[in-house]
Amino acid sequence: MYSEKFQKSLAAVEAAREKNIALEPDRMTAKQKEDLLAAFHPDYKQDEFETLKIGPNKGDKVPTELAGILQAHSRISADSVDLANPDYETDVLVIGGGGAGTAAAIEAHEAGADVMIVTKLRMGDANTMMAEGGIQAADKPNDSPAIHFVDAFGGGHFAAKKELLSKLVCDAPEAILWLSNLGVEFDKEEDGTMVTTHGGGTSRKRMHAAKDYSGAEIMRTLRDEVLNRDIRVVDFTSAIELILDENGNAAGAVLMNMETKELLIAKAKTVIIATGGAGRMHYQGFPTSNHYGATADGLVLGYRAGAKLLYAETLQYHPTGAAYPEQIFGALVTEKVRSLGAKLINANGEAFMHPLETRDVSAASIIRECSERDNGVDTGNGKGVWLDTPMIEKIGGEGTIMKRIPAMWRMFDKYGIDIRKEPILVYPTLHYQNGGLDIGADCMTTNVENLFVAGEAVGGIHGKNRLMGNSLLDIIVFGRSAGKNAAAKAKDITVGKLSLSHVDKFEKEIADAGIDTNVVSPKLLPSYTKNKEAF
Ligand code: FUM
Repeated sequence: MYSEKFQKSLAAVEAAREKNIALEPDRMTAKQKEDLLAAFHPDYKQDEFETLKIGPNKGDKVPTELAGILQAHSRISADSVDLANPDYETDVLVIGGGGAGTAAAIEAHEAGADVMIVTKLRMGDANTMMAEGGIQAADKPNDSPAIHFVDAFGGGHFAAKKELLSKLVCDAPEAILWLSNLGVEFDKEEDGTMVTTHGGGTSRKRMHAAKDYSGAEIMRTLRDEVLNRDIRVVDFTSAIELILDENGNAAGAVLMNMETKELLIAKAKTVIIATGGAGRMHYQGFPTSNHYGATADGLVLGYRAGAKLLYAETLQYHPTGAAYPEQIFGALVTEKVRSLGAKLINANGEAFMHPLETRDVSAASIIRECSERDNGVDTGNGKGVWLDTPMIEKIGGEGTIMKRIPAMWRMFDKYGIDIRKEPILVYPTLHYQNGGLDIGADCMTTNVENLFVAGEAVGGIHGKNRLMGNSLLDIIVFGRSAGKNAAAKAKDITVGKLSLSHVDKFEKEIADAGIDTNVVSPKLLPSYTKNKEAF
């Protein structure tokens, strides 16, 4: 139920609905997209970036907020920690209890390794749990991994590391099978074939989903499997520094109990960083669709230990974050809403763009509509455009919304908005970290031996923009692969003397570069109160 101030614009949207359903908005040309991105996408705002003065990516530009935590002090001083008597010893230490971390742990365990997951909140408190729209895999007769590759490579501005993207698309059908066999309930037709839909930038319908809570369904299943296997999980405990051995190889982590602040030492033969994304860094002041713990911890840990970053300057702003009501500001409105037929409409009732352009282009287009073109709707908390959800019922038939996107219906129903009858207001929200730690096809970082990475903390799988549904896919493909490879490598490793000398070295680099900061990192949790110190 919208108040009086929205009624004029709502009337324009309703009056134009039939015409807008029939309209097929033009696709933008490559040149139009380039110009649009350069003018309106947040990644192109030069004054929001800072050049790194120290570390493996010295000289590269990254978002100012990220530079702040990458070039920050450690939470510990190396000589204050006793490494001689570890509290935990394991073959494979997995840092992070989301989709990538649990998939890695399951495969490492399957390979016979002793595995331990450490997670700063609870297992499953992760962006995986909040993923909605689905997971891509080319497993239909009209599709192939090669076509999937072409879609994703183009969507990512031809910047993806080819060996990573190739692995992603080629392993995708098997990933779906693995998840199904573990118990994920994907949506199916009556004859048992998978229901698949389009996402932005896909040339084939290859999005597999569990309604609009695909991530929760996957996370539920992975968590059950970890519990069934009795894999050791240490929760409410964060990794605050990697430990290397005397040879400079990854060999564990310093952990901190989130309640007591007690420090604990975990020694491991191999380490997997699966710490997820960075939405809670709120780059450029954007709201986020991410879970509470998404603060780029893995990037900080890896960087301080000498691991390189790739494309850390590129973030994904999901085009359709909820812009109204304020209580759900920034929450994800799944792209599946557009896959099912809803179009983006400005304040005057005009369909101003094709609804399934790639995400960076769609986000930039909405920002332009709300800024330069001044065609946005004033929400009382910024601007937004309409996403005309009643179109879905008109196109797919009555009942489509409850059948395919019930979580969306519920999210807005709580605030008196029935998305079957009324459109919703959306604006881009910080959704995904395209960049991250640089790895090879075996998931090991390119310059720290025995340090593996999986999931959103990896950079380069998707290039400089990711297509919908390729993230749930990458956590499974690279999570599994990291787990298998870390377990195999652990078999031949004798860990040398544990060391935190890299922490001292980094502190010296900060001083030598004249960086004047009182920031400590990893950040671990966001702080939303003005007078409270960060955690
Ligand atoms: O729109 C969505 O459902 C998000 C999916 C994704 O980021 O892959």
